This record gives sequence, structure tokens and C-alpha cells, in this order.
Amino acid sequence: DRTLDLRAVEILQKNDRGLYTVPTSGLYPYQWNWDSAFAALGFAEFNLDRAWTEIDTLFNAQWDNGMVPHIIFHRRVDGYFPGPDVWGTNSVPASSGITQPPVAASIVRHIYDHDPGIGRAHVERLLPKLVAWHRWFHDYRCEAGPCAVTHPWESGRDNAPDWDAAMAAIDTSGVGEYTRRDTAHVDASMRPTKEDYDRYLAILYFGRDHEWDEAAIRDRGPFRVADPAMSFILMRANRDLADMLERFGQDRAEVDGWIAELEAGVEDLWNADLGAYDARDLRTGDFAGSLSSGSFLSWYGGLRDDRMLDWYDKVAGALPYGVPSYYPQGAKFNAKRYWRGPVWGIVNRLIAVGLADAGHADRAEQLRERTAELIRKGGFHEYFDPEDGSAAGGGTFTWTAAIWLAWAS
Ligand code: DGY
Repeated sequence: DRTLDLRAVEILQKNDRGLYTVPTSGLYPYQWNWDSAFAALGFAEFNLDRAWTEIDTLFNAQWDNGMVPHIIFHRRVDGYFPGPDVWGTNSVPASSGITQPPVAASIVRHIYDHDPGIGRAHVERLLPKLVAWHRWFHDYRCEAGPCAVTHPWESGRDNAPDWDAAMAAIDTSGVGEYTRRDTAHVDASMRPTKEDYDRYLAILYFGRDHEWDEAAIRDRGPFRVADPAMSFILMRANRDLADMLERFGQDRAEVDGWIAELEAGVEDLWNADLGAYDARDLRTGDFAGSLSSGSFLSWYGGLRDDRMLDWYDKVAGALPYGVPSYYPQGAKFNAKRYWRGPVWGIVNRLIAVGLADAGHADRAEQLRERTAELIRKGGFHEYFDPEDGSAAGGGTFTWTAAIWLAWAS
């Protein structure tokens, strides 16, 4: 569809701030980590140099400890909360103090394969940075087990029911007054609640009060939940990183070790009662009892068992426009509220890549076709209602435009 292709290119160009791309102006006016990696995936379809610039800018914000922040505040823009002063990280460039799902290594490999001649110098520079970031994950988020998040924002799936029990235990007595800005851009019924925001801030303040000391956050932080999605995305990223190291004549043994640790670690996330991979509160050991779309990333992570296949067929088949971010059979399903039901194009792409790799090409193709239909119907929105297919959240969204160009179209 030529008109939609052009429109997608136009959205990426409109959200382009020169050296990085915003997810959408207004609601998200800075550089976000995984949004930016997806932006590069989209740019690679028509401007490879610009794709590499996006990734280079992201990694220029890497911290000395290896962490790559989830938001980079290159220059001050009004209308977003919490901004750089609230995070108080003192980093240059200014950034948040947490990370986001590490899709970058897999996207770097994908872009490199478009044209190794153009990509070689970029990959050579990026490899040590990717290794340092993944090592940071294994030191401070996974520790030889499944990968945890220390803040719901780190998962990228901010208000997924996966976090509800751990969130309910957060003490918000010190949070005080603040003004949200997100609900000025998007209808409040499609966004996290006020209670969610109080808790997001309480967790943020713990990190700030401990000067973003990762050991303190790991050992004593108020929120530490092992996340199937994060674990599978990192598992895949490690495989792609190991492959690139090998192709560049470098040692992959350390990364292979991480893959083996994650493969063993995700076994801790198998909830036999639910019959699915499930988030797990590492402070209490309790499963969330919440089947989210992230659990269908097991194939993407490289697992070749079909333990999730029955659930996949049930969840993807329950509503006209899958895959919902939370299973419609669950009590907390809400078709409009962000990560509690709506369908996200980027997650569909990750699930489909995994399904195709694992020999489920028909399901992968059906998912691509459904995602394309949502975009044809509703435009390049942030997410969609899986029941009626209507568009939701922010409009003119970078990552939706990107997956259209790189996959759905
Ligand atoms: C937000 O502000 O809603 C973002 O998801 C935080 O990363």
C-alpha cells in the first residue's frame, strides 16, 4: 500500500529530531530506548545512514556502568512528567535512571545484514557497548536467573497486570503532590491510574535517594519482579550479539554463558497452575498469575518447545484483533487501558518473528496480516483495541510506522 508506506516515512521524518527520533511529539517528546531501536528498524528501510545514527545516539548516552537509559533528555521540552529534574541522575546527557527492553542488539544485527559494507564500522564500535549493556543486565537484573525489572517502566509494559501485586506493596506515603502531563495528551481511561503513578514515583524516589546505586537497588529496592518478556528479549539479544561477535572474529564465550543462564532461569517463571510463563515477584517468590503477551516471546527468545502454543491459539483466537497484551480470559482484561488488553504492533512483530523461526509460519503470517489490518483501519497509533480494532493512545507513532515499513506492509 503505497499511500501508507509514504505516510509511515513521513511520520518517521516528522518525529526525527536530527540525531534521534521521538516516539510521538507531545506525549513522549524525548528519546526512548526501545522506541529508538524500532525507529532504526524503520529508517533502515529507506535511509540506512539515518538508522545507524539513531543507534549511535542511543549508545552515546550509555552510563559508565554499562546501563543504557530508558529516556534521554537531550534538550528540555515542556509537557512531559517526570522530567530530568525528577530523575536527578546527574548524567550527561541527562537521562532517566532505569533501562528498557534490550531489543537493540537484535535490531543492529538486522540492519547490519541490509548492507554489511555500510554497517561494518558501526557494528565494530557498537559491539563492546552492547556487551557492556548486556553484562550490566546480568550483574544487576538477572544474576544467573530470569531477568527482573526494578520499575514497571523498565519493562516497557507500564501497567501490565503482571506488576499488580508487587505494586500494591509499595509505600507511597512520601510521594506528595505532582502534576501528570500524559493525561493532557491522551484520554485518562487509556492510561495508568493515579495509584499507579504514585507507586511509579515512590519506586523512582528510592533509586534517586540511593544515587542510582545498582547494588542497592538490586538488593534493597522496593520493586523487583522477574519478567518473561524481558528475559526472552534479552535471550534473543544475546544470541544475536554472540553471532555478531563470532562474525567479527571476537570471543563469544561470555555471551554464550548468559544464554545458558537465561535458558535455565526462565524455568523459574513457568507457572504450572496457569500453564504459562508468568511474572514473579522476587521479593516474595509469588507468581503474578497473569498471562501477558510477553509470555508468547518464548519462541522469539529461541526456545523450541511449544509449551505456549495452546494458550497462543486460545488468546490470539479469542478476539478479532490479537494479540491482546493481557489475556481476555483473565479478570483484569481491559480493551482500552494501555498494557491491560490493547494490542501493540511492536509486540506482534516480535511474537511473529519467533513463531516463524520456530516453524509456525502460518500463525506468523496471520499475525502480520492482522497487524496490517489494524494499521489500515486505524492509522499509525500507539496501540489498538483488540475487540473492535479502534486506534488508541498517541497518534503518529514512530514504532508503529517503523514496523509497518519493516514488517507489516
Ligand atoms: C510514560 O511516561 O508513560 C512512559 O511509558 C515511561 O517510560
